[in-house]
Amino acid sequence: MKILITGGAGFIGSNFVRYILSKYPSYRVVNLDKLTYAGNLDNLSDVEDHANYEFVRGDICDSDVVNRIAGDGVDAIVHFAAESHVDRSIDDPAIFVKTNVLGTQVLLESVVKFKLKRFLQVSTDEVYGSLGKEGSFKETYPLLPNSPYSASKASADLLVRSYFETFGCPAIITRCTNNYGPYQFPEKLIPLFVTNALFDQQLPIYGDGLYVRDWIFVEDHCRALDVVLHKGKAGEIYNMGGENERTNLEITHMILGKLSKPETLLKHVKDRPAHDRRYALDCSKIKSELGWKPETSLEEGISRTVDWYVANQAWWQKIKSGEYVEYYEKHYLRRESYRG
Ligand code: NAD
Ligand code: TYD
Repeated sequence: MKILITGGAGFIGSNFVRYILSKYPSYRVVNLDKLTYAGNLDNLSDVEDHANYEFVRGDICDSDVVNRIAGDGVDAIVHFAAESHVDRSIDDPAIFVKTNVLGTQVLLESVVKFKLKRFLQVSTDEVYGSLGKEGSFKETYPLLPNSPYSASKASADLLVRSYFETFGCPAIITRCTNNYGPYQFPEKLIPLFVTNALFDQQLPIYGDGLYVRDWIFVEDHCRALDVVLHKGKAGEIYNMGGENERTNLEITHMILGKLSKPETLLKHVKDRPAHDRRYALDCSKIKSELGWKPETSLEEGISRTVDWYVANQAWWQKIKSGEYVEYYEKHYLRRESYRG
């Protein structure tokens, strides 16, 4: 099998490239990535010389590059490439529409044109919107996204559905909860707080910190995608979660505990606009139909993740300099004047 992985230089994509090359030695992988601020070839330095791996720097919105790759014997596309950070989507929504919506449409066209066998749309629980204290989202629930990020992912999901219905495109949508683990860009909650705490810098908790996310270790997500790629049914949607609902404050205390750092590092700051209170997924479909379940407990996953960031300081220190510093200085200034 030859797989085109888009966004393979990002967090989940790079974990998935490594996972596929090691689990399926005969598979060929082409990684198409634009190398935005979030794309990093250091994430794949251990596989860059692998005989079955090829990297192409390019934009999923560019139909020429997409068609050139897709028309060269590709069987399946696993589509990770996206602008992925909610805060950035509040600062600058336009690029989210371009990459996440228009880019997905370019890929879908190539699936139809070259009659590929499978298209996996790697989506998110955020498309369903926010939950109260009780309940969880099923695949059949309506889409009620609240941020430009989740709206762009929901829009792409709807395009995927339409290409299945209209053109018989063999597409599947997967919706996963919050991932964490090695190689996550240090702007998301867990890697930001681990790397800040290591240098005794403040941990900015948005609002009261009682927002709830379900956390899945990235390897469990990779296994779920593997199962869907090989056994999933075209036209279906599969929820996948870690069964680890925690408030942001609970996650922060776990990190501080693991690093033996004081709670005084924690600082409540202005809240994110339209901040979704709680996400939770009902994952009974993938469990009963495809036999997948998460295997990593939150305690084990956080411990492995913190150990990885401690052991790989050079990786994140290179990121947390230059452009990163400039962006975050502006970001925190902008937060003070958020619209709405
Ligand atoms: P990430 O931001 O770490 O990586 C995104 C990658 O896409 C980067 O390598 C970037 O260079 C690349 N990219 C961006 N725009 C591109 C373009 N126009 N053309 C080609 N490449 C481009 O993101 P991630 O956290 O690894 O998320 C990957 C996917 O999984 C996204 O689609 C995201 O919506 C979805 N997802 C993420 C989570 C999570 O918790 N991180 C949860 C559920 C779903
Ligand atoms: P994040 O990692 O950005 O993922 P998402 O918004 O996609 O769920 O944020 C996870 C939670 O942590 C979310 O409720 C926002 C909160 N958060 C903070 O409190 N402080 C921070 O600095 C960040 C980045 C996030």
